[in-house]
Amino acid sequence: TATLPALTRAGLAQSAGQSAAPAGGARIPPGFVWGASTSAYQIEGAVTADGRKPSIWDTFSHTPGRIADGTNGDVACNHYNLYAEDVELMGKMGFQAYRFSIAWPRVMPDGTGAVNAKGLDFYDRLVDRLLAANILPMACLYHWDLPQALQDRGGWHNRDIANWFADYARACVERLGDRVKPWAMLNEPSVHAIFGHGFGNHAPGLTGWDSYVRAQHHQNLAQGVGISTLRSMRSDLKLGTVFSLQPIFPSSQQPQDIAAAARFDACWNTINLDPLFLGRYPAAFESSFAPLVQAGDMQAIRVPVDFLGVNYYGPSWIKHDPAAFLAQAGYGAVPDGTPRTLLGWPISADGLVAVLARLRDQYGNPPVFITENGACYEDPAPANGVVQDPERTAYIRAHLDACARAIGQGCALNGYFVWSLLDNFEWAEGKRRRFGVTHVDFDTQARTPKSSLLYLSQLMRAHATGA
Ligand code: NOJ
Repeated sequence: TATLPALTRAGLAQSAGQSAAPAGGARIPPGFVWGASTSAYQIEGAVTADGRKPSIWDTFSHTPGRIADGTNGDVACNHYNLYAEDVELMGKMGFQAYRFSIAWPRVMPDGTGAVNAKGLDFYDRLVDRLLAANILPMACLYHWDLPQALQDRGGWHNRDIANWFADYARACVERLGDRVKPWAMLNEPSVHAIFGHGFGNHAPGLTGWDSYVRAQHHQNLAQGVGISTLRSMRSDLKLGTVFSLQPIFPSSQQPQDIAAAARFDACWNTINLDPLFLGRYPAAFESSFAPLVQAGDMQAIRVPVDFLGVNYYGPSWIKHDPAAFLAQAGYGAVPDGTPRTLLGWPISADGLVAVLARLRDQYGNPPVFITENGACYEDPAPANGVVQDPERTAYIRAHLDACARAIGQGCALNGYFVWSLLDNFEWAEGKRRRFGVTHVDFDTQARTPKSSLLYLSQLMRAHATGA
């Protein structure tokens, strides 16, 4: 049986060798964890297999006009059936860890109550494959695919969801906790609150400030209650959660844009960070949250975590926008000359260093994993068994270099998971927007490595052998 290394740099140091240089100067220290990341609805498909019932993303993606290219996750990458092939690819490429998410609608198809053993069987098989390939599994409990049955009971607007979530989390750990040690509670709660419950361009498609606030508070609460519940089950788990963090800049030096950027920063970043690490909501929005916060809530949310997962893509530039639902703060002009990906997202590897430095300086330097980082580009067709994606490769390289610099500056960064292992269903963008380091032909389900994957593979191998 495989012994799992502790999920720390020191713990992995025995199996890893010396440093490897991702780019020019900075070096990644031994023990750094190299992983890939995915999420259930984006890759699994098989949406009616073995007792799974619909999630809010099934409903949403089947609503005409919601997804840019009219696609949905019915089949996605068919990972539910092709998982063994996908694990084999990861093993061959030298990944040491894999972050996947568990689909609540597989495990508890009605959201609460009966556990669907067949749904858990899938993750059981996946985890055993990963361990056999010497890949550390990291499970994320919630990556946006709420059972539709729970949405019908109010979803994240219903305070009871904290207990619904804890029951579901318990069922997952009962089955998998003997083999899966790192557990992330939620993926990007502020993004789920803002896009899914404020803008309405993600499932469940709800809109407005009050809706956003309710979804945000109840996610924070569920995260805290989930951690405490799992903590009481086993002492050997590594418990954390995953936030999307980014530097927020004003789009001009006008005082009202500077103020709007500060409000946006609170709604995107500190609305998650402050409750978890400081036990309070950002001052600017305390009064919005006050009606929802019951006695004991902030203590329930402020619980110790073993790690924080950080999803980092790039910074945003924000302007005062009276029409914006989110505290009159909306996306503004990006400075001329700022490089961008295909989705228009600004690129700044320095921004990653800034985010990690903020965690170090303002939040007690918690152990961090970059649980997502990657880029969307238009890729050419496969040729000679590979897809050439030099822009994605350069993006990854620059951000790995930033990781090394942040570590050099004392940030407690322990690993990097690329988003994503596979091209997949990119939410409202559908399947036309690709983030994979592996190309997926959605007609044949053929997987073809991209040059970014080969680059990563080389780096991971060099790192493992100390070259
Ligand atoms: C963050 C989300 O967690 C993930 O699901 C998404 O595909 C990537 N960002 C890219 O947008």
